[in-house]
Amino acid sequence: MKFSGSHILSISQFERVDIERVFEVADRMEPYAHRQRVTKVLDGAILGNMFFEPSTRTRVSFGCAFNLLGGEVRETTGFETSAIAKGESLYDTARVLSGYSDVIVMRHPVSGSVAEFAAASRVPVINGGDGANEHPSQALLDLYTIRKELLHQGRSDLDGLRIAMIGDLKYGRTVHSLCKLLCLYRNVTVVLISPTELQMPGEIVEQLRSAGHTVVESDVMEGSISKVDIAYSTRIQEERFADRAEADLYRGRYRLNQAIYTRNCEPNTVIMHPLPRDSRTEANELDNDLNDNPNLAIFRQADNGVLVRMALFALILDVVDQVDKNARDV
Ligand code: CP
Repeated sequence: MKFSGSHILSISQFERVDIERVFEVADRMEPYAHRQRVTKVLDGAILGNMFFEPSTRTRVSFGCAFNLLGGEVRETTGFETSAIAKGESLYDTARVLSGYSDVIVMRHPVSGSVAEFAAASRVPVINGGDGANEHPSQALLDLYTIRKELLHQGRSDLDGLRIAMIGDLKYGRTVHSLCKLLCLYRNVTVVLISPTELQMPGEIVEQLRSAGHTVVESDVMEGSISKVDIAYSTRIQEERFADRAEADLYRGRYRLNQAIYTRNCEPNTVIMHPLPRDSRTEANELDNDLNDNPNLAIFRQADNGVLVRMALFALILDVVDQVDKNARDV
């Protein structure tokens, strides 16, 4: 794909060579993310960071990534602080805000809304999550994390990966994007563990099978996570249900804790979660007793978000080759 000036709306835009390019640039961002070096390559540039749904990681890490490249961030959070609350259309909002920004990141509760916004924007737009549809930068940072964790175990190949995805696979946009991304690799085994009502959408299962992958669907976690490299847990997406009572029907169905991990998983199985994990006692899909488990990668995963998002900005704004030239050691 051509990165320069492009919107990032779906993981389906990427070929395998593009993923490798993002990861290569992300690796080069390490000294800047760790403040060993400072670059001003995006000095004077402005990110419009527009989040119409709650977010901690995506909003802050996109903002940090832009700041770490020397740019400035302007934020809108929630509909109530935006003129959308006064009836302004996505089209008008996009025409206006793209006049104030060099690039925009947007999260919105409605599937397809970020693409609608991007169609009217005069600058590149990155999808920070649109309803239950997609979260492409999360899938990139997830696969980047998987690659790093496996490299740490001495494995350099993503082909042949075995991964279990656990929880709300119907509404979880991160697992939708991750499955689409895995279609670019070979011989992947994907174990999909969810209540029957919250299964992975059929078209995504079909895409995995069409890519030649082995797909196993189950509503039982114990036993299904025994032969996987990655156990990827997700939260029940309460905000997509009619009400809290409906979400409560499923909350707490799959709880991974240290005892279950020891009983079921291989010694090197990496535990991932896009976060936030639901820490309320009735939910608790990843127990705090896993916090000292060295294979719990959830915070390394969140850290990797900064590197991957720096890489996306550098590629989209076409400054990769200038990052080091505009840098100094700290
Ligand atoms: N993983 C993720 O999207 O987290 P936030 O909702 O905090 O951005």
